[in-house]
Order: sequence, then C-alpha cells, then structure tokens
Amino acid sequence: MSTAGPPQGAKAPSGGSAAAWAASVRAISEAVSPALPGFTVEVLPEVDSTNTELMRRARAGLLEPVLLVAERQTAGRGRLGRAWSSQAGDSLTFSLGLPLAPQDWSGLSLAVGVSLAESLDPRLQLKWPNDLWLDDRKLAGILIETASFGEGPQARRYAVVGVGINIARRDAAGLSTPPAWLQELMPGIAAGEVLRRVAAPLVQAVQAFETFGFAPFQARFNARDALRDRAVALSDGTAGTAHGTTERGALLVHTAGGMNTVTSSEVSVRPAD
Ligand code: BTN
Repeated sequence: MSTAGPPQGAKAPSGGSAAAWAASVRAISEAVSPALPGFTVEVLPEVDSTNTELMRRARAGLLEPVLLVAERQTAGRGRLGRAWSSQAGDSLTFSLGLPLAPQDWSGLSLAVGVSLAESLDPRLQLKWPNDLWLDDRKLAGILIETASFGEGPQARRYAVVGVGINIARRDAAGLSTPPAWLQELMPGIAAGEVLRRVAAPLVQAVQAFETFGFAPFQARFNARDALRDRAVALSDGTAGTAHGTTERGALLVHTAGGMNTVTSSEVSVRPAD
C-alpha cells in the first residue's frame, strides 16, 4: 500500500491466529509503505509455495511490491532443487517480491541473511551463501529467484526473496543438516511476531543492497560467518579452509593449490571439522 492504513490485498488467514497476523500486517504496512509505494502484505492460509506464487504473478505481469506469507506451503522449495517442508505453526514462510535494479546482484542472499540474523538474535550465524545457523544447526533458509520483464534497454527484473524460518521444534528426519528453531531462543514466539520483527528491516536491507551492493554488508556477514577459519568441503570436491567473503560476497577458500574464490550458488559447502 502506498500510504499507512488498513492493508489492501491482505486476506485473513483461517484459524485463531487471524488477529495476531492482522496486527503484524498492519505494523509492517505502516513501517514499509512510506519507502516502498504500492507495497502490500498478504497472508494466505495455504499455497503451494510463496516463491512459486510470486513468480507466477510476475510472469502474468503483476509486478507490484508485495510480502506474501503462507501459513502452510504444500510444495515449498529450497535451493538446488530441494524441497522445503514445513507444517502450519512450526515455521514462518514468506516471500518478498519487488522490482529491483542493482548494478551487481552478487551477494544479495548474503545481505538478506545479515538482515534476518540482525533482526532476530546476536547468537545466529550465517552459513554461506543462504542459511542461518544456530550452533551448527539450520534455523532458516533463503531462496532468491528473479523474473525479467520489459524488452531491450528497458528490461528490468522482479526479485522474489523467499525465506523459511523454523519457529517450533522440528524433526531432523530427512534433513542433511540438523534443524534449530527460534523457540529455543525465544520461548513461545509465534510466526506473526517473527514476521513483524524481520519484515521492515528486510525491505530496508534489500533497498540498501539495490543502491550500494554487498559492500555495506560484508563486515556484518563476516562477523557472523559460521564457516570462518574452519575446514570445509565443497560439493564440487574442493576441500580447504574458509576465509570469509570478498566484497562481492564470494566465499574465499584456501586450498592446497592457493586461494579459491567460490561464486557459484550451485555449489554447496559444509564444515568438514
Ligand atoms: C533453502 O534452505 O534451501 C532455502 C529454503 C527457502 C524456503 C522458503 S519458504 C518461503 C519460500 N517459498 C518457498 O517455496 N521457498 C522459500
């Protein structure tokens, strides 16, 4: 919405949490709208995936800035073609969609991670490139996708920043990294309250990234880098020691052959110690 007031486009979710969601939606709309005209917040009881839905809308020409939240996703997606599974109430799942035109897209997911971690807790760490960790366990993941619109020099991109945060205790079955959940740090906290904490700072961070790129986030990422100075193994077979990030958000890995700069988001990395 372009001005503060009752959110247009916000749909009431089912269940007893409607009032709590409505309060969060109102607070977020009021905080974000002045800096992002046309912004709306929408909470759906269920959707296949908030990322999939915003990419569908973008391809249909709906390019307004929106925060789309789902109480439940039936086909949540993670990076590298993985699934992101969650049940209503145990996670916060949302996507921020907006037209975005940074000079350089490198490091956007890292900047998003910095913003989320700083909004939530000083003990949270960041695992390059897209995860929030608590004590080497995964608390949250980020999936960023873009759609192009317009032609030639006028061509622009619509970014969809998808975020999944574990709120309540999660079962580790089937997960490659054991899960952490926010209620370990904030007993009793609900998804709507978490959204209220993270949403406006996230929009600000994405707008700052559009103007300044990753540079203002580099030191903040490195201060929370879960891999720093640790032995790591990459999915492409590389092994070495992680040495933080470059000013474009690439991971530095010192190997027997020298310093490697890892940029590909198609590569996954894990601690080997
Ligand atoms: C990852 O860890 O691989 C990224 C997980 C991203 C999950 C979020 S949940 C909201 C949004 N919708 C999706 O389908 N995925 C992202």
